[in-house]
Amino acid sequence: MLDLGCGSGAFTTFAARAAGEQGKVYAVDIQPMMLQQLESKLARTEHQDITNIELKQASAYNLPSKMGLLTWYTWSPCFKKYLI
Ligand SMILES: C[S@@+](CC[C@H](N)C(=O)[O-])C[C@H]1O[C@@H](n2cnc3c(N)ncnc32)[C@H](O)[C@@H]1O
Repeated sequence: MLDLGCGSGAFTTFAARAAGEQGKVYAVDIQPMMLQQLESKLARTEHQDITNIELKQASAYNLPSKMGLLTWYTWSPCFKKYLI
């Protein structure tokens, strides 16, 4: 899954748990400070079970190509089988 503009992670932990052990969440934000806040959130005791989040500092307009594809697949129900 791609949590684009994740901020401090209001939805990221929910997404990670929904993705499950076989899934992965890319948490992307343009502001490094937001990712630092998310990192602090993930360091809390109650989130120690979450291991499937990868934080990336990037602009939505200049995503690594793999994430661009993820966005497209995520937004296209017909292609859900291709979700990574
Ligand atoms: C209103 S906050 C939402 C945060 C979180 N998703 C939530 O629902 O609480 C929008 C976030 O999008 C990020 N953002 C804005 N423009 C962006 C861009 N072009 N690329 C990546 N992130 C961006 C901001 O840094 C901010 O953290």
